[in-house]
Amino acid sequence: MKITFYGHACLGIQINDIHVLVDPFITGNEKASHIDIDTIQADYILITHAHQDHILDVEAIAKRTDAIIVSNYEIVTHYQNLGFNGHPMNHGGSWEFEFGKLKYVNAIHTSSFPDGSYGGQPGGFVIKTYGEKSKSKSIYIAGDTALTYDMKLVGRQFDLDIAVLPIGGNFTMDVDDAITASKFLDVHRVLGYHYDTFGYIEIDKVRAKAKFDSKLRTLKLLDIGASMEI
Ligand code: NI
Ligand code: MN
Repeated sequence: MKITFYGHACLGIQINDIHVLVDPFITGNEKASHIDIDTIQADYILITHAHQDHILDVEAIAKRTDAIIVSNYEIVTHYQNLGFNGHPMNHGGSWEFEFGKLKYVNAIHTSSFPDGSYGGQPGGFVIKTYGEKSKSKSIYIAGDTALTYDMKLVGRQFDLDIAVLPIGGNFTMDVDDAITASKFLDVHRVLGYHYDTFGYIEIDKVRAKAKFDSKLRTLKLLDIGASMEI
């Protein structure tokens, strides 16, 4: 599994030869101006919730790639009504996609579209790829969320290789709550996201990493456009 960070809360996840894109918000992110959305591959677009900083580039990328949009029922219905391909889910539900088994899990946040219309309830995703025990990988993508005890359930149900957690605070968890989340999730490797894009969520990255280190956990922060393998 190769994970590419496209800035803010946008990830490209490549599993074998399948490209899963999460929460595309690139053209509205000054810090991601070196990323050309026309070069991003997507077979699937996962959307955690309907806020603009998670959906801005969905239509442009889905139009070009014919990607299948996966999210909650309300968000997927919105895009299906515009003519896009979609697969609706809801909290607690799982589906076996070609890239792995995907579960849509709780997040504590809100989810309106930019025009104020209803975007269902916000969520996060767990992907468990197929294969023998040692080859199967599990990733939790929290979406925008507060710290919640529900993360203990995710940790109990999945042997996570990595958790992608918001760390910017103000709208979501901050670094300290993300450390607690990593304990609830029983995961030692965290990829931080949803930080530094705009003023409310700027963080001290050196200090954030040191805080994780002091709890014997690793906070990975990728430059925009950079990738990691798990
Ligand atoms: Ni949000
Ligand atoms: Mn957000």
